[in-house]
Amino acid sequence: MSKQQDTSKLWGGRFNEPTDSFVQRFTASVTFDQRMAAQDITGSLAHAQMLCNVGVLSAAELAQIQDGLATVQQEIDDGSFQWSIELEDVHMNIEARLTELIGTTGKKLHTGRSRNDQVATDIRLYLRQAIDRIASELGRLQTGTITLAAANTETIMPGFTHLQTAQPVSFGHHLLAWNEMLERDYGRLMDCRARMNQSPLGAAALAGTTYPVDRAQTAAALGFDRPTENSLDSVSDRDFAIEFCSFAALLLTHLSRMSEELVIWTSAQFNFIELPDRFCTGSSIMPQKKNPDVPELVRGKVGRVNGHLISLLTLMKSQPLAYNKDNQEDKEPLFDTVDTVLDCLRAFADMVPAIKPRVDRMRDAARSGFSTATDLADYLVRQGLPFRDAHEVVGKAVAHGVETGLDLAEMDLATLQGFHAGITEDVYEVLTLEGSVSARDHLGGTAPRQVAAAAQRALAALQSR
Ligand code: ARG
Repeated sequence: MSKQQDTSKLWGGRFNEPTDSFVQRFTASVTFDQRMAAQDITGSLAHAQMLCNVGVLSAAELAQIQDGLATVQQEIDDGSFQWSIELEDVHMNIEARLTELIGTTGKKLHTGRSRNDQVATDIRLYLRQAIDRIASELGRLQTGTITLAAANTETIMPGFTHLQTAQPVSFGHHLLAWNEMLERDYGRLMDCRARMNQSPLGAAALAGTTYPVDRAQTAAALGFDRPTENSLDSVSDRDFAIEFCSFAALLLTHLSRMSEELVIWTSAQFNFIELPDRFCTGSSIMPQKKNPDVPELVRGKVGRVNGHLISLLTLMKSQPLAYNKDNQEDKEPLFDTVDTVLDCLRAFADMVPAIKPRVDRMRDAARSGFSTATDLADYLVRQGLPFRDAHEVVGKAVAHGVETGLDLAEMDLATLQGFHAGITEDVYEVLTLEGSVSARDHLGGTAPRQVAAAAQRALAALQSR
């Protein structure tokens, strides 16, 4: 029987029949990995330059490859590039087109390289760019958050535990708590970037290559800190993608918490803030509705991002060294995570500076709900009462307030003295909202001057990035 070669395949040499058409579609990745085309070309240019420098390619061949790849990039940019499922993935599509354009020299590009180290390089280049864009959107959100905080150091709202009124806090203090979460997210993102920024190029299929490749040279040309150490590990592990997704899961978790607060604060019952109409939508049946869709959607997006993290962890689990086709499944979850993170950050970075606090509503809410009860207890402690006894006395006063509908600050002196004889006129200084927040005057406390200083430090940290 004569050997029936499938000539369209770059690896067709040892095959006796064409690939089953379903298998072709099933194993192809070009529909999604073409997103890494620019990185693939950048990697190829660095590889070709290095091959020339070490004498594997001639200067003329290098020039041909450079011209050809420039044309390919041009075709991709203007949309005329013909992507083909038969060519399986982004790497072979580009290489095949290069050979079509420049002839035999195109076939030399893959010398000393495998798609295994190629794809490991492409994903890192892609993710590194994505990380830099994410870092800048995150910075924009943090700037907006800190700026709003700095403008609201003296805006008083109820602080909550168990979503029950606890103690009055500065609205700026609350916003700076958000910023702390985001600051740690930024740190995790940078850790991930630093660990992944190594070049797998030169690992070839799994064992290295017989050509005298200069891995340090390609690493430097591509902006990597250094080449990876071990060829088997270089082509196999996707831990950097998992690490990125775990950063993303935590970031989205934080954004979902902020979203939840925005949803609560915009409800008619709370009415603490106003979100501009452009971030909200209406109801098709209830004319009065203005729904906080943007924060609700961000809150919902955490589901897919958490899912992608679990997908990648499960994908990697139990894979033997070195490269396995399983790893082709890393891209869609990773890409969707990048897209989702960028969209959610953009939504928040646009929305947060537009938040209008309803200062009076927040104040009223802080005033009712006995938010200064702890301050009264502390006052009694200063009079010599043990804290547990003071707690008991104030508990009784609150119970009286619940019965009569009076807040502590609204009870007259005689009434308060009924709970403890030592109480004097100066008690009203600690029962006011301003007195309560100003008294928490230490690092990390909610006193307006502490919040202002914290906002300054947060801004300085942001600017020194
Ligand atoms: N499309 C493949 C991937 O995404 C590229 C590497 C394929 N290598 C191989 N030997 N089949 O992982």
